[in-house]
Amino acid sequence: MNAAPVLEVRGLGQSFTVPGRGELQAVRDVTFSVAPGETVGIVGESGSGKTTLGRTLLRLYEPTSGTVLFEGEDITHAKDRALRRNVRRRASMIFQNPATSLSPTLSVGDILAEPLRVHGVRSAKERARRVAEMLELVGIDPDWSDRQASELSGGQRQRIGIARALMLDPALIVADEPTASLDISVQAQIINLLNDLQVERNLSFIFISHDLSLVRHISDRVAVMYLGEIVEIGSSEQIFNDPKHPYTASLVSMTRAPDDRIVPVGEVPSALAPPSGCYFHPRCPVATSACRDEHPALRHVDGRDVACIRSGALEVAAPDAILSTPIPHPLAAVR
Ligand SMILES: Nc1ncnc2c1ncn2[C@@H]1O[C@H](COP(=O)(O)OP(=O)(O)OP(=O)(O)O)[C@@H](O)[C@H]1O
Ligand SMILES: [Mg+2]
Repeated sequence: MNAAPVLEVRGLGQSFTVPGRGELQAVRDVTFSVAPGETVGIVGESGSGKTTLGRTLLRLYEPTSGTVLFEGEDITHAKDRALRRNVRRRASMIFQNPATSLSPTLSVGDILAEPLRVHGVRSAKERARRVAEMLELVGIDPDWSDRQASELSGGQRQRIGIARALMLDPALIVADEPTASLDISVQAQIINLLNDLQVERNLSFIFISHDLSLVRHISDRVAVMYLGEIVEIGSSEQIFNDPKHPYTASLVSMTRAPDDRIVPVGEVPSALAPPSGCYFHPRCPVATSACRDEHPALRHVDGRDVACIRSGALEVAAPDAILSTPIPHPLAAVR
């Protein structure tokens, strides 16, 4: 894609101080970009830093290192006013759990009008008009704007979460597990809605999910995270059909028949005390002694970026697991 990126993240880091236990580096040296109209999927085990990355790049958390450029502007240290003018208006987040992310005491109309009010739409009539228009767009009866979020079903609440994210005409939406709490038919409706909106408005998405086959289904590119780092990033096709990092290979093998899965040994190490060398080496089926000593940087291999000195080794050791047919996502049948 040739258009200037919507988002450019360079060397982004986020650490938390855990009382009595030290510094926890939740996101480390993350570099990637998102083009207009592109969907970048982010996958990785629980605790790998996906949510923290999403929140940090939108400045919902202050980055501890690195830079974030949004629509060409360096927002890493932007002050409140500049943040409101730019990021808070042109980028938004859809949260995993619509039950807790929407205020239970406000009406649907108030929830959706709030961003307009904050961003200077003074006329109540104009706000009401735009709320009704948005409700219609996400498939909710505009007459429902007086209802409280707690009166709605999970799928309806998630539509309100999407409507809120869209109120200010964003260029980028970070969607963190937006359909995880919904059943498959509602999930399909929400994914189709996001897809239609993307085409109509040339929206960019960062789509965070545990659901690998869903990510495969909707992403142009996919970033694989392990212990706070991106260990591989490439096209959906490259990541799912021709993974080069042994961790990616094992992760994508989980979408195959049980006999074809490559299950890494042991547990994910604590982010408070990562292993030496390559963080994946204690669990890696093809690690050598060099992997214990050397921390690999991302390098360009076969059209994608991968952080592994043994890249492709698993492909040779367990080709069946990588090449066998994936189990299709249930959405493929629903569509
Ligand atoms: N506010 C916080 N304070 C301290 N540690 C945190 C905080 N938020 C996240 N962490 C830690 O940072 C790491 C990354 O967490 P994060 O929630 O970003 O992971 P995730 O990939 O989104 O996981 P999941 O798939 O379970 O949602 C974890 O070790 C987590 O315990
Ligand atoms: Mg998360």
